[in-house]
Amino acid sequence: MTWDSERFASRYDRFVRPFERRVAAPVRRRLVSPLRGDVLDLGAGTGANFPFFPPTVGRVVALEPDAAMLRRAAAKRASCPVPLEIVRAQGERLPFPDSSFDAAVATLVLCTVRDLPAALAEVRRVLRPGGSLVLFEHVAARNAPGRWLQHAVQPLWGPRAAGCQLTRDTPAAVRAAGFTFERIERGWLWPYLLPSSPAVIGVACAPA
Ligand SMILES: C[S@@+](CC[C@H](N)C(=O)[O-])C[C@H]1O[C@@H](n2cnc3c(N)ncnc32)[C@H](O)[C@@H]1O
Repeated sequence: MTWDSERFASRYDRFVRPFERRVAAPVRRRLVSPLRGDVLDLGAGTGANFPFFPPTVGRVVALEPDAAMLRRAAAKRASCPVPLEIVRAQGERLPFPDSSFDAAVATLVLCTVRDLPAALAEVRRVLRPGGSLVLFEHVAARNAPGRWLQHAVQPLWGPRAAGCQLTRDTPAAVRAAGFTFERIERGWLWPYLLPSSPAVIGVACAPA
């Protein structure tokens, strides 16, 4: 299947609108509103986090590798109430010096980065000591029927969803990258985005 990122990006906001309104927007607000200082929005997509950054944030750097998503994020620049830079780059190779950010935001992106350990190592590198990684991610199911469904659907899902992986144990990868969870909640996105319904919402800290 040939990947058409223009087509995906042009339909993305419409596809996720009900999910955003009922589930994601309140989660984004809750995760992002305590942040302060310099913040990296990893894989910012079409800019869904932008409206929620509080005045305590001095600067948001929205990183996005896909040109079609990035253009849509740029068109929503005005929805971000704090200074915003938009940078085209991959999470696995962050074009920033060590210790550049106070916090990083990863919402519905760690499922899609090609090399999850490399991206998390980069996030850790660019965070200041004790900086936080806030995340909202769909993850591998913890029960056998859920995992079976995810594995069964993955070959159909991945090629239609920008390579999204349904079966990642993202909390384990975050811990393996040296972060410590300050808070983690497990949730369920049903009836949205089945079979990517099991989700985590969390705050993890880089070593001080
Ligand atoms: C499902 S969208 C989510 C976008 C946004 N974070 C949100 O919460 O709506 C996933 C995004 O991750 C981006 N992405 C894919 N691979 C990436 C990588 N290696 N590094 C950073 N972002 C990546 C995609 O281009 C896409 O915009």
